Amino acid sequence: MKNVISCDQFTKEDLKEIFDLADVVRANPEKYMNALNGKVVTTLFFEPSTRTRLSFETAVVRLGGRLVSTENGKTNSSSTKGETLEDTIRVVTGYTDAIVMRHSFNDAAERAAKIATVPVINAGSGKGEHPTQSLLDAYTIRREKGRLDNLKIAILGDLINGRTIHSLIKLFGRYENIEFYALSKENLALPEKYVKIIEETGNKYFKCNSFEDIPKDVDVMYHTRIQAERCDEDLGKEEFIINKKVLNQFSEDTIVLHPLPRVDEIATDIDNDKRAMFFKQAHNGMWVRMALLLKVFEEEK
Ligand code: NCD
Repeated sequence: MKNVISCDQFTKEDLKEIFDLADVVRANPEKYMNALNGKVVTTLFFEPSTRTRLSFETAVVRLGGRLVSTENGKTNSSSTKGETLEDTIRVVTGYTDAIVMRHSFNDAAERAAKIATVPVINAGSGKGEHPTQSLLDAYTIRREKGRLDNLKIAILGDLINGRTIHSLIKLFGRYENIEFYALSKENLALPEKYVKIIEETGNKYFKCNSFEDIPKDVDVMYHTRIQAERCDEDLGKEEFIINKKVLNQFSEDTIVLHPLPRVDEIATDIDNDKRAMFFKQAHNGMWVRMALLLKVFEEEK
């Protein structure tokens, strides 16, 4: 695996290898503490981030690699002076051994990978994709539910602008018998393009109008924030909030995921419910990103 650009690129076997390796690394982290010895990883973030950047950076440090980082690429790099993404990458690629990049362009990661001579890892590209988020989402589901086939997954929130949803749909295209239940405000409904991907990969799509339309035994409820910063028009407030009352309509085995940050779509009154998985999910991200970095550098050898 040289670049990590889109969930389209993973085979079911690749995914299994990454998730198995994440389990192995977390069981015995000392064994891997020098795995990236001598490597320099650059994190180039042109959009805000807490979890993705910090978990990647912690992953690099825990593997014994070193970091060079710009966390406010939009204001603190030469892009404010009018430098193109291509020129920035042309330069950075000569300094480093891998680039982890977040950018507001939907095609930023592909564009960077065309220029870079070192691996590029997409840490979020506009409204497009966020493949490493989906890796940790699926890893969390595997750990909690024990499987990745035969699942009912409700997707909620901003299904138009949410890149984590788009990547999740592509990733679950590798698995069998997945039913997606989509619940969002009408102005944020899942674009036809992604409905097609669900159907073309043999999975099923159900559009819901209320929580009552989601089966009570749904395995996963995956909520997302309204991406207000991505649109000029006012997208309004979330209408479908998961709180204690709502969650209690569902099975004891339904888990609640969210890539975070949450705004008001998940009420804090479920935070201590055993089904609320979002903080665990964020922590799983570090192990998954350690496994992914090991895979990326393994390919390099
Ligand atoms: C997500 C993102 O950046 O797409 N956050 C994350 O990486 N955990 C979701 C979001 O910002 O709403």
